Parts: sequence; structure tokens; C-alpha cells
Amino acid sequence: MSSQDISEENLPSEQGSAHGAVEVADDPFADPGLPAHKPRIQDIDEKAARRSERTVAFLFTLSMLATIGFIASYVAFPVDKIVYIWPLGHVSALNFALGTTLGVALFCIGAGAVHWARTLMSDVEVADERHPIAAEPEVKAKVMADFRAGAEESQLGRRKLIRNTMFGALALVPLSGVVLLRDLGPLPEDKLRKTLWAKGKQLINMNTNEPLRPEDVAIGSLTFAMPEGLTEEDHNFNNEIAKAALMIVRIQPADIKDKRELEWSHEGIVAFSKICTHVGCPISLYEQQTHHVLCPCHQSTFDLSDGAKVIFGPAGHALPQLQIGVNDEGYLEALGDFEEPVGPSFFERG
Ligand code: FES
Repeated sequence: MSSQDISEENLPSEQGSAHGAVEVADDPFADPGLPAHKPRIQDIDEKAARRSERTVAFLFTLSMLATIGFIASYVAFPVDKIVYIWPLGHVSALNFALGTTLGVALFCIGAGAVHWARTLMSDVEVADERHPIAAEPEVKAKVMADFRAGAEESQLGRRKLIRNTMFGALALVPLSGVVLLRDLGPLPEDKLRKTLWAKGKQLINMNTNEPLRPEDVAIGSLTFAMPEGLTEEDHNFNNEIAKAALMIVRIQPADIKDKRELEWSHEGIVAFSKICTHVGCPISLYEQQTHHVLCPCHQSTFDLSDGAKVIFGPAGHALPQLQIGVNDEGYLEALGDFEEPVGPSFFERG
């Protein structure tokens, strides 16, 4: 047997696979290559392809309707309406409607895209060589050509019904988020300008719930007050007290540096908003020697003997002062509302 016979008869034969790998006859680890492509029903039957097209269009249209339903639910259902839905029990009608419609809208877009890809887009498998990472210009050109071929195979241009309904569904679904932005508003307008304080309203000690007399306020003490008529049972108590809460201190009139502060005080008793003008924490620490009050949140410090001006920290404005006096019965009363908005200074301040 010649050496040529040995090489031809005894050595395993080799052939290229569809992957480009070398196959060795009788080798159990040889690359079998890709299976033959089996055309789907939609590839050979235009009627089946049209059915798939209508299914995809139906899903995208359903998504559009669900998005419209989301917006309609947002407008139609009151926030506090509770309904019984089996098996969930008692739930918010608004939350249930919003969740259901948004879920259907997103699901239908996903299901439509998957059905489109599985039934109408090309499913021919191809194998490619692994290339160096840095692409040559001709590789880039090939990628662009493949991209264009993929766009052609997706039939986006030919299946106008799918294309139009898909764009409609994708264009409408973000509206759900846009509508929810409405919950950020409305702007506070004049709500921060108006508090429950008005001329003649007595100052009520928040600890004792009793009207305050000047003799109840000792030098060096810090008293918190709220307007008469406000009780913790009121449904809007938290909102109102968050705007109207007062700090009352008594300072020797001679120590008051700000002229308007002196005029708005009663025998050295001054009333300032308790709400920090930085981001609205309640101020609670008073240093009687210096007449400074400190906000515990970010350490803004205000000088109550000088118009409650900011002397340290991030607050941007002095604490608003309430003008006070004494009524015929000897109780401290407000002589009007605050003249400027209370609380954080990031709102419009006129
Ligand atoms: S809230 Fe008072 S310093 Fe920030």
C-alpha cells in the first residue's frame, strides 16, 4: 500500500460545514451544521401572512384603545371611589382601571411585536465567522447592507397596516405618563399666601389649647401657637397647621433691632412663622441669650431680635412675622395674616 493510498483510505475525510467549521467523518463531536430551513405557513401562503398581519394590527389597535381607556379612566374615576372586585376585594376603582388599561396597552405592543417577528419577519438562520473587533470599512459597509436587508425583511415598508398601527400604538402609549404629570399640579398659587390667621383671631397655646395672655409668655421661653377655631379633628388640620404654626417669644423691647418687628410686637412679644424658609421643617430650638432659633434639619439659624433674618445656613429668607396685639379681654390676637408666603422659598414669593 503506497503512502498515497494510506492518506486517502485510512485518514478521516474532511469537509466544510455550513458554519465554516471542518467536519470529520465519523467524528461524534463534529459540527452538524445548521438544520435545513423549514418555511412557515406564512412564508408560502399569502393568506396566512395576511391573517398574521391582521392579528398584529389587532394587537396594536387594542393597545391604542387601552391607552385611550387609561386616559378616560383617569378623568372619569374619582380618587376615593372604592369598588369590590373579585378576587381582589375592595380596591380603588381609579388604581384598578389605570393599572389594567396601562397593562393591556403595554402587553399588546409587546405581543404584537413578538407575533410579527415570529410569523412575518424572516426566520432563516445564518452563521457568520467570528471577526476581529475592529471593523474594516468593508465590514461596516456590510453591516449597513445587512441592516437595510433586515429592514426589508421585516416588511415594514410593505406591511403598511402593521407599520401604521404600530406607530399609532407607540405614539399613544407615552400619553399615559404625560397624563399622570397632571398630578404634579396645580401650582400653589395664593394658597401659601393665605393662612387661617386674620384680624381678631386669638393665639391658642398648642400645648394647653388655651388662649394666650401676654403674661403667659415669659422672657426666655418659646411658645408654639395656632389660630383659634382650628382643632386636631379638622380634616385639613395638618395642612392648615403646617402654614399657620407660630413661635412666640418675649424679648426686651430695647433688644429688638428691627423697627417693623418692634411695631408688630406687643410689649416685646413677637410672633414668627415656625416653618423654616429653606424646605419647611418646623423650627424648634431657641437660644434665649442670643435670640437665635435653629432649624434642626439643615441648621439654618434666624435672629428673632432682628426681623428673624437668616444668619447661617441654607434658608433664603427671613421667617415671616405675624403682627399681634391684645384684645379687649386681654388675650393675644392677630392683627391680620402674614404679609408674605410662609415656608420654603422655592415657591414664588411676591
Ligand atoms: S429646612 Fe430648615 S434649614 Fe433646611
